[in-house]
Amino acid sequence: MEQIIILDFGSQYTQVIARRIRECQVFSQILRYDTPAAKLAALKPKGLILSGGPCSVYDKKAPHCDPAIWKMGVPVLGICYGMQLLAHQLAGKVQPGKKREYGPADIDIVGDSPLFHGMEPVQKVWMSHGDQVTLLPQGFTAIGRTENAPHAAVANEDRKLYGLQFHPEVHHTPNGKQIISNFVHGVCGCGREWTMRSFIEHSIQEIRQKVGKDKVILGLSGGVDSSVAAALIHKAIGSQLTCVFVNNGLLRKGEAESVQLVFGKNLHMKLQYEDATKTFLTRLRGITDPERKRKIIGHTFVETFQKATKKAGKAKFLAQGTTYPDVIESIPIAGNPAAMIKSHHNVGGLPKDLGFVLLEPLRQLFKDEVREVGAQLGLPKEIVWRQPFPGPGLAVRILGEVTPEYISILQEADWIVIEEMKKADLYYKIWQTFAVLLPVKSVGVMGDERTYENAIAIRAVDSVDGMTADWVRLPYDLLARLSTRIINEVKGVNRVCLDISSKPPATIEWE
Ligand code: XMP
Repeated sequence: MEQIIILDFGSQYTQVIARRIRECQVFSQILRYDTPAAKLAALKPKGLILSGGPCSVYDKKAPHCDPAIWKMGVPVLGICYGMQLLAHQLAGKVQPGKKREYGPADIDIVGDSPLFHGMEPVQKVWMSHGDQVTLLPQGFTAIGRTENAPHAAVANEDRKLYGLQFHPEVHHTPNGKQIISNFVHGVCGCGREWTMRSFIEHSIQEIRQKVGKDKVILGLSGGVDSSVAAALIHKAIGSQLTCVFVNNGLLRKGEAESVQLVFGKNLHMKLQYEDATKTFLTRLRGITDPERKRKIIGHTFVETFQKATKKAGKAKFLAQGTTYPDVIESIPIAGNPAAMIKSHHNVGGLPKDLGFVLLEPLRQLFKDEVREVGAQLGLPKEIVWRQPFPGPGLAVRILGEVTPEYISILQEADWIVIEEMKKADLYYKIWQTFAVLLPVKSVGVMGDERTYENAIAIRAVDSVDGMTADWVRLPYDLLARLSTRIINEVKGVNRVCLDISSKPPATIEWE
């Protein structure tokens, strides 16, 4: 398949570049900045993009690419640091700018480079750099300039090498997508092969070929990734797939039933339902420390899953809904925000060494692509657009000990939150919204009676990847409805609070 390879120099926008290229219906993958040219050539890319990055090309530890890439005869686009590296490695000159340029700028397009084909002569762009290219390498000319940067865009048209001082991939460069499209279609000559329909067809063939007549087991959580992986594999191999769904007793109201209905009854998948509620809740009895709670849930899940796989019969493959952001290698450059994402906890997952061959059909996809595949495979909106739900479930939303009574109180309150958010048309627009049970007793009055009950906190956050988050300013009338309904309808609650903390320093979940 035609592809554009992005070499990652540690920019926070590298994944955004990959997404923009895929929006042009061209496949793109991200590789480390130091991937040898021979390895790149073997992948037969139609073009290369060098990302931005936090370093200066003159830093002692500045990441450099294999200089042989300049002789591969493949078009290259360097963005920000990528452009400075291009100038540096091709004997131009890079120097610290007179002042750091950060924010919007107007660029005047010079000449008629195919990179700016069909675009107005003045464009708004987003700058973020300290260094500047002061001397162009031989054969290069400026194809765009701003007031501060005479070399804001440069090209060697004969060799199809390009550099942009600004970031075409971010939304603040309104016509950036056109520039990227010009590069991948106009300069590199890519067609439009990457669509989710072609992905589905291609992966069905691949799954059939890989699996043959063997059996596949998949741990179904009901979340977007495992659900879409299940639907795709089921389409490829039908009853050779068994989905194992573990009810840990910490699910939201109605969730176990809805997973059985959607996957078992409607989609006719072989579904093995394991109700391990008792085991989980017995082991959690009396445990108040958040880390111990998580560990117990993690171990019990793996144990239950392993037992269930034995019941399901001998399978060679274990399928997982791993997606592209999970597999992109984070690169060890100081200040690389992608490196932090890897350290993220993931309780509720499976260890690598269960003795199966892994089948990960979504490894190449970003979340929005996974959702599109799910929709094309006929999964309902409630699953395709589901909010993230942590592996340890409601246990991390009940502070302290988890008891059956607390679970049922929280399930009811959470149900109301979800229902009201959907009615307000906000549920699918927000990263996460949920209720948290605070087992802190406070005094209230209901009718003529004095009450002494628990509190519920409402948490609504927006986020892009769960690493940072801001609390959502929910409308007052919605908050009023939530409070009235929860206090009136959920026995055991007499107070509702709103969590107005961002991450960091708070976390999204309370435990
Ligand atoms: P925190 O609470 O760390 O959560 O700000 C960030 C995101 O991760 C989810 N989360 C988990 N997901 N297993 C998971 O699969 C876990 O143990 C876990 N803990 C938190 C959380 O819901 C949020 O989206």
